[in-house]
Amino acid sequence: MTIDGPSGAGKSTVARAVAEQLGFTYIDTGAMYRGIGWLARERAIPFREGPALEALLRDARLVFEEHEDGTRLMVNGEDVTERIRTAEMGMVASDISAIPSVRRWLSALQRSLGEAGNTVLEGRDMGTVVFPDADVKVFLTASLDARGERRAAELCARGEAVALEHIIQDLAQRDRNDSNRDIAPLRKAEDAMEIDTSALTVAEVVERVMEAVQRRGNSG
Ligand code: DC
Repeated sequence: MTIDGPSGAGKSTVARAVAEQLGFTYIDTGAMYRGIGWLARERAIPFREGPALEALLRDARLVFEEHEDGTRLMVNGEDVTERIRTAEMGMVASDISAIPSVRRWLSALQRSLGEAGNTVLEGRDMGTVVFPDADVKVFLTASLDARGERRAAELCARGEAVALEHIIQDLAQRDRNDSNRDIAPLRKAEDAMEIDTSALTVAEVVERVMEAVQRRGNSG
């Protein structure tokens, strides 16, 4: 199953809950872009095609590790789980995600993770590019204000106090970046079910997604 949509539409929360109900593995592909962005920044490698980026992709190792307290993202042996969650790293990920070789590299890794089936893959291009034949495709949206408020609460819970106004500007900028890039731009797959989550609770969204899963199951 794939779940795509813009930042703050509720993808991670919904994908995690649906995966848990189905006993599927949840794969956060945004974290993978954040992980590669983190590594490039750490090594001071410019965000453009070239030998330095090629070398980075050649020896990059991204691994999701299951721990008792949740999934950890390891990048070349280093646990970056918390470090990649800042607003700044979201923008870094958005910037590096427009580079073709980075998309090719991560799409291949995502396909190998999803191939086994029983996965909920969450991102921007899961239903359009990486898994065009997925059984169930969901596209979550929400108003900019609703998304901003959710992101503010999330960052606040992590101790990162950012003004709502800045968060909304940041989300709008990321929407533009992610929707206007040449390859694999953010868009709804034609056969995806679209849900506007602005006025819905998490439970309501999860229920609608589970109904879609059941419909799909019943139709064979
Ligand atoms: O979902 P997120 O905010 O963690 O994603 C960070 C950035 O990574 C997002 O702004 C665009 C990019 N991304 C992408 O291009 N394709 C994906 N499948 C997932 C994320």
